[in-house]
Amino acid sequence: MIRSVVIGTGSALPKNCVSNAELAERIDTSDAWIRERTGITQRYIAGDGETTGSLATDAARAALADAGCDIADIDLIVLATATPDRTFPATATTVQFALGGRGFPAFDVAAVCSGFLYALGTADAMIRSGMAKRAIVIGAETFSRILDWDDRGTCVLFGDGAGAFIVEAREVGDDAADDAPGILATRLHAEGEHSDLLYVDGGASTTGEIGKLRMKGREVFRHAVVNLAEVLREVLEQAGRTAADIDWVVPHQANARILDATARKLGLSMDQVVVTVDRHANTSAASVPLAYDVAKKDGRIKPGDLVMLEAMGGGFTWGASLLRA
Ligand code: ACO
Repeated sequence: MIRSVVIGTGSALPKNCVSNAELAERIDTSDAWIRERTGITQRYIAGDGETTGSLATDAARAALADAGCDIADIDLIVLATATPDRTFPATATTVQFALGGRGFPAFDVAAVCSGFLYALGTADAMIRSGMAKRAIVIGAETFSRILDWDDRGTCVLFGDGAGAFIVEAREVGDDAADDAPGILATRLHAEGEHSDLLYVDGGASTTGEIGKLRMKGREVFRHAVVNLAEVLREVLEQAGRTAADIDWVVPHQANARILDATARKLGLSMDQVVVTVDRHANTSAASVPLAYDVAKKDGRIKPGDLVMLEAMGGGFTWGASLLRA
C-alpha cells in the first residue's frame, strides 16, 4: 500500500506586520473589539513586490530545504489560492518556474479557506494512484488585495501568507500501516447554496473586476461550527480512530471562538489545538500549512503524532484530513 507522507514543511509571511492599534488609526475599530470577537492581535499585509506567487515560492523553498529535497525531486505542484497573481496562468506554474522546475504538472485549486485541504487531498489521491511521487502542496493568499477597507466587519479579520508541505509516496506494509507516517483519511465537502454568505463580488466572467470580499459573519460562524464537528467525526470514523487518539488539531485559523467551539464539540482541550490566528489573522488557504509549520518548528508536532487538519470556507467548502507526522 502507498501512503503520502509529509516529509517537510515551510511558510512565508510578508514583511509588514500591522497591529490592531495601527488598523484602529485608519478604520473605526478598536484593539479591544478585534481581540474579544476574534482573538486576532496583528496580521501581515503584502507590500509592493510581494504576491501570492512570491510568498508561495518562499514557502515552497523553505519546505524543500526542510525535506532535504531539490526541485529536481519534485513531480507535482498543487497550489490552493483564491487570490492568484493573475486570472491565468495558474500561480502554481509561476512557482514552478521560480523554483527552476519544468515539465511536471502544476495547477491551482480554488476552495477558499478549505483550499489547502482540497489541494492536499488531490495530491494524496494522485500519489496513491501512482501519478506522482513527490509533490509540493501549497496554500498561499494575499487576501489584503480583495478586502474592502471601508467594511470594518471584514477587513480586520484577514492577513496574507503562505505555507507548503512536501508530500512523498512511501510503500507501507499492511502490517506496519497502523503506526506508519502519512495521510490516513480525508473527507471533503461543498454546498453551493450558501455562496451568498461569503463571496467576492467580482470575477472575470461577471463584472470583469476582481471585486471585494463580502460576508455575513454570524451565519458563517454558525455553519462553520456544525460542519467542522461533523467532518471531524467522519474522518475519525474513516480512519478507525476516536478523538482521544488525536495529539494535535491544526485548524483553519478563522477566529479563536470557532476554534474553541469546535474543540469543545470534539471534547478536546485547547492545549491540543494549534492557534496562530492571534499573530497571522485569517490567511484563508495558507492558514493550515502556516500553523502546521509553526507547530512543527517549535517542537509541538513530533514524528509519530496523530494530527487532524481541518478547514471551512466560502462556497461553503469544508474538509478534514488525519495524518501521522
Ligand atoms: N470594530 C468595531 N465594531 C465592529 C467591527 C469592528 N471591526 N465590526 C463590526 N462591528 C460592530 C457592528 O457594526 C455591530 O455594531 P451594532 O451592534 O452597533 O450594529 C457590532 O459590532 C456587532 O456586529 P456583528 O457583525 O453582529 O458582530 P459579531 O459578534 O457577529 O462578530 C464576527 C463579527 C467577528 C465577524 C463574527 O461574526 C465571526 O467571527 N464570524 C465568523 C466569520 C469568520 O470567521 N469568517 C472568516 C471567513 S470564513 C472562515 O474562514 C470559516
